[in-house]
Amino acid sequence: MKRRDFLKTAGVLAAGSALSSPLASASPLASSASAPVEGDLNDLKIFRSIEAQVDKPVTVIIIGAGNRGRTYSGYASLYPRTMKVVGVSDILDHRLKYLADKHDVAPEMRFGHYREVFASGKKLADAVIICTPDDRHFEPCMKALELGYDVLLEKPMAQTEKECRAILAQSKKYNRIVGICHVLRYAPYFMALRHVLRSGAIGEIVSFQHMEPIQYAHMAHSYVRGNWRNSKETTPIILAKSCHDLDILRWLLDKPCKSIVADASLHLFKAENAPEGAPSHCTDGCPHEATCPYSAIDIYCRRKAHLGVFDLNGNRDPEVILQRLKDPAYSSYGRCVYHCDNDQPDHYVAEMVFEGNETATFSMEAFSPFGGRRTRIMGTTGYIEGDGGTFTVYDFRSGKKNVWNRKVSEIPEYKGSGHGGGDLGLVRDFLEAVGHQDPTRLTSTIEASIESHVMGFAAERSRKSGKKEKVKV
Ligand SMILES: NC(=O)c1ccc[n+]([C@@H]2O[C@H](COP(=O)([O-])OP(=O)(O)OC[C@H]3O[C@@H](n4cnc5c(N)ncnc54)[C@H](O)[C@@H]3O)[C@@H](O)[C@H]2O)c1
Repeated sequence: MKRRDFLKTAGVLAAGSALSSPLASASPLASSASAPVEGDLNDLKIFRSIEAQVDKPVTVIIIGAGNRGRTYSGYASLYPRTMKVVGVSDILDHRLKYLADKHDVAPEMRFGHYREVFASGKKLADAVIICTPDDRHFEPCMKALELGYDVLLEKPMAQTEKECRAILAQSKKYNRIVGICHVLRYAPYFMALRHVLRSGAIGEIVSFQHMEPIQYAHMAHSYVRGNWRNSKETTPIILAKSCHDLDILRWLLDKPCKSIVADASLHLFKAENAPEGAPSHCTDGCPHEATCPYSAIDIYCRRKAHLGVFDLNGNRDPEVILQRLKDPAYSSYGRCVYHCDNDQPDHYVAEMVFEGNETATFSMEAFSPFGGRRTRIMGTTGYIEGDGGTFTVYDFRSGKKNVWNRKVSEIPEYKGSGHGGGDLGLVRDFLEAVGHQDPTRLTSTIEASIESHVMGFAAERSRKSGKKEKVKV
């Protein structure tokens, strides 16, 4: 889209504005001249109804009825005309029952292990949505494709580059759609940011500084005590957490990455840093509980953060949460952060070079009081700075700035969607892709998404070898 068209769409092109001068009407990509970004960026007309446009409900089987499985299946409750959950699989009976009951799933379509879904050798729905842990993506995805299902697959796609490439080959072999859950591409904040960049509002993109602040308690919850603590059992944190970031940088720039160099380490969460007398669990009368920022009692019982893993079904009573922390089924979340079987780095830096020699520096940081990705984008005629919720566009020549600060809750179509609005947008586009058998309706197809995974595996090789790694898809 040309800058003029973009500004018209955005409702910010005033009659007789500086853009009508010959200088400013030159392509912003070809000239160092630039017009101010005027008007209200919040008026961007780039969002459409979150309800999928399909002729009949797309039938899906949810594999993995945990956090993500519940999130995506929630779309069917909001828009039953477009999606029907006809099957659920989970190895935990209570999770299977909860989700299957919610969607009125027939007894013969309630499965334990995902292998049961495929045991008949028949295709039982239009699509499967795979939300199992990272080490259980590859096998069900390969099998589903073989049986003719279209697949919505959680990231990271698989645990090795070889497996990721095998999934891509399988999708081509059976001519099926595979969507990857790179939900940020569907979040209004990133959609607006990309739209502004594509308009040429800051000229040519030269470089990025991008930071993913995990937030200290989130780090402790997911990558020290929780499901993604061990890189060998799941995937390295650059994939488990930050494949979104590699993907979003590549998507914003719209050019392939040529090379990557990375470094990382685990600084804090290891036994040698345990304060004196700290027991294995915070609930065992730890003398440091009142002052430790990572206390499980503080994070879960007092602050009531990250409760989704405890199957509380809405009960947020601190005593009930405390009992969960002592229950063997959940007590891994009660562990002292210095006495866990974790190996994920708590800080990670990477530097990338893209096709036109654009550069990006990335840093993943555990030790921040906030989450929300921070991005600075340097262009030839302007600059953008964003914090994951709002971004400001600066124009060099005019000195003017323009802010996008639209809350997802103020965009009616996106209300109720998690991850900054991305979850529902992803499901909508996947349903349309399946309903019309048209993968172009989905931006995060496997073809588009595999590159960020290849970048992540290259980053891991680089931090181990100490060398710059080429990225080749
Ligand atoms: N796209 C995103 O932004 C995003 C966010 C969080 C997590 N994730 C990814 O989503 C996936 C699921 O994460 P989650 O937070 O929902 O985890 P979760 O632990 O809440 O849910 C996973 C579920 O899979 C079930 N399961 C395990 N083995 C199974 C098997 N063999 N057959 C059937 N079910 C099985 C578990 O019992 C559990 O209920 C992970 O790969 C994770 O990395 C993606």
